[in-house]
Order: sequence, then structure tokens, then C-alpha cells
Amino acid sequence: MSRRYFAVIPAAGTGSRFGGDVPKQYLPLHGSPLIRHTMGALLADPRIERVVVVLAPDDAFWDEDCTPVGMLARVSVVREGGATRAISVINGIKWLIDNIKAEPDDWLLVHDAARPCLNSVQLSSLIDGLKDDPVGGLLAIPVADTLKRADTVCRVEATIDRQRLWQAQTPQMFPMGLLHMALSSGSLDGITDEASAIERLGQQPRLVAGSLTNLKVTYPEDLALAEMILSADQARSNT
Ligand code: CTP
Ligand code: MG
Repeated sequence: MSRRYFAVIPAAGTGSRFGGDVPKQYLPLHGSPLIRHTMGALLADPRIERVVVVLAPDDAFWDEDCTPVGMLARVSVVREGGATRAISVINGIKWLIDNIKAEPDDWLLVHDAARPCLNSVQLSSLIDGLKDDPVGGLLAIPVADTLKRADTVCRVEATIDRQRLWQAQTPQMFPMGLLHMALSSGSLDGITDEASAIERLGQQPRLVAGSLTNLKVTYPEDLALAEMILSADQARSNT
């Protein structure tokens, strides 16, 4: 049987850097909740059989308006988010194994709820670029700016050579069994993305060039940028 594709969207964060009473994944963006754009981006690819959204157990903001129209059958909402992103992802994987009989060889894409501007070109280049890869990998962008390391009082201590430095994005795509093992073996301290767990096993995830437009909404000003990116995408698709 051919390898299937699944996605997990960890969405149990509180958005502490963004601030406010409503977690950023539920804020209105381009006419609908931010997370609906994120889900729509993954569901637009028919290869992705099911998208599992992992919410905090006490999430009071999720409602039916969060699921893109006509997509209910491919969406599962699991209220088993944990204290860290990695735990939320592990619980999404367990749900897929227990309920959908996902196999170790199936591909899993993990995508931040807070990245609503992923487009189909970026998603296809990730999937097409990795589907025959033995390890898997992630979307990322080469660092463009000069990098400075600061001392404790914000004075430059050093300039860091940016050659071969990349900024990691999501989706990150790995064989489900490999990722499950990577996240389950050892401490989750310092594991801020799926790739870092895989690296700890001695494997080297592949970097697939993405785009700046696949930004993560972290601070309030990012929301206005996301709005502009979605408007530009819509204008392009209308021409
Ligand atoms: N996430 C999660 N479970 C957690 C923490 C984060 O599922 N315990 C999710 C977030 O909901 C988000 C993604 O992981 O979709 C990326 O995390 P980030 O941008 O850091 O979001 P928050 O943790 O919500 O924001 P902050 O770090 O500013 O509090
Ligand atoms: Mg966080």
C-alpha cells in the first residue's frame, strides 16, 4: 500500500508574546478565524487525508466556524494539547495511530496553527521535495540579514557568519514512526520543532527553500502582515 499523508496542527498555545484575551489562532484574519486559513492551506492539498487539530483541553474559543466549509470529514479536533508544543504533537500522533490506524511509514506534516499564509506552491514543494527522502525535512529560508549576538546589556558581542544558516518554518514532514520515536525518546527540553528531535537521533532533515510569506504570527504587527499577504494572494488568484 502506498504511504499516506496526515497533518497535525498543534494549536494549544496561549500566544503569550502576542498578548490579549483571545489566543492569536482565533483572531479574525481576512474575514475568518486565523486557524481556519491554516487548516485550509493544508486541506487544499488532496494528498493530505486528514488534519488533526490539537487544542488545549480547556479551550473555550474553538467553534464550527474554524473549519473550512465542506471539510468536516477530513478534520479531527483533539482536546489533548500539552504544556509544550512537542507534547501537543505527540498527542496528535497517538490519536492518528489509535483512531486512523496510521502506519509508521505514513508521512506526517506538522504545521503551526499560527502560520496562516502557507500557500499551495510552498506546500507542494515541501511534499514533492521530500516524498522520496529517507529522513524527511522542513520548509526553511536562508538567513538574509547580518546576524549579531548581544551581550546582556544589548551591546554587540559578535557578528555571526550567516553562511549556511537557515530559519526553520513549518510544515515539517517526517515518517510518522520516526517522528514518534524521536519525540518519545529522551527529554523534550530544547526541542522547539520536530526537526530538532530528529537531529537528536543523529539524522539530518532536508531543508526545502520556502518563502518569507509563510510567516508565523508571533507579535501583534505580524497580523497586519498576514492580512497583506493573504490579500495579495487573493488578488493574484483573481487575475
Ligand atoms: N503550541 C501548542 N502547545 C503548546 C504551545 C504551543 O500546541 N503548549 C502551538 C501553538 O498554538 C502554535 C505553535 O505551537 O500554533 C507554535 O507556537 P508559538 O508560535 O510559540 O505559539 P504560542 O506558544 O501560543 O505563543 P507564545 O510562545 O508567544 O506563548
Ligand atoms: Mg510558544
